Amino acid sequence: MAYVVLVSGAGSNLEALIEADVGKISSVVADGECPALAKAEAVGISTRVIPYRGGRASFTREILDVAGDAEALVLAGFMRILGKEAIARFPNRIVNIHPSLLPSFPGLDAVAQALAAGVKVTGATVHFVDELLDHGPIIAQKAVPVLPGDNACSLHKRIQIEEHVLYPRVVEALLAGRLSVEGRTVSWS
Ligand code: GRF
Repeated sequence: MAYVVLVSGAGSNLEALIEADVGKISSVVADGECPALAKAEAVGISTRVIPYRGGRASFTREILDVAGDAEALVLAGFMRILGKEAIARFPNRIVNIHPSLLPSFPGLDAVAQALAAGVKVTGATVHFVDELLDHGPIIAQKAVPVLPGDNACSLHKRIQIEEHVLYPRVVEALLAGRLSVEGRTVSWS
């Protein structure tokens, strides 16, 4: 089953998906040049850059054109919000990974937000994507302790170690049809 990975940054989660050999990545789409593209190209996955212009609806349509008959969209550090056309085309088949225990600290700089709030535990969340930012039903979470002396960089590194384990597991379950959603509750089978 093929899926498209959407990226904007370093691509470490993309790399984790490639290394775990989860399903077939039909293409990697970015909203601008970024290191993640080279990681896809290095293993022969086709890439596309779709700059964000002309508004969310036309940007989303371009992504859906590239997605073709893919089964799912996997957002891996993708810094844009998809339009409702994407949610309608892929109901409960778009997932995102976020570096906090949602619903705490949605949006930008989630790791810095957690540090500023003084929490003792934060982590990573994988969730279905709906029309709101970092909001859809939660599929999986992994807690990461905040350690004395942590800064955003050291804490994000430890969160990403967990992300790289969590995301391939979730994508594998999604592709295998093992995730079901009722209201905001996601069940694994
Ligand atoms: C990850 O920490 C993810 O949670 C967040 O953006 C970061 C992307 O990192 N959405 P990478 O590009 O996968 O290395």
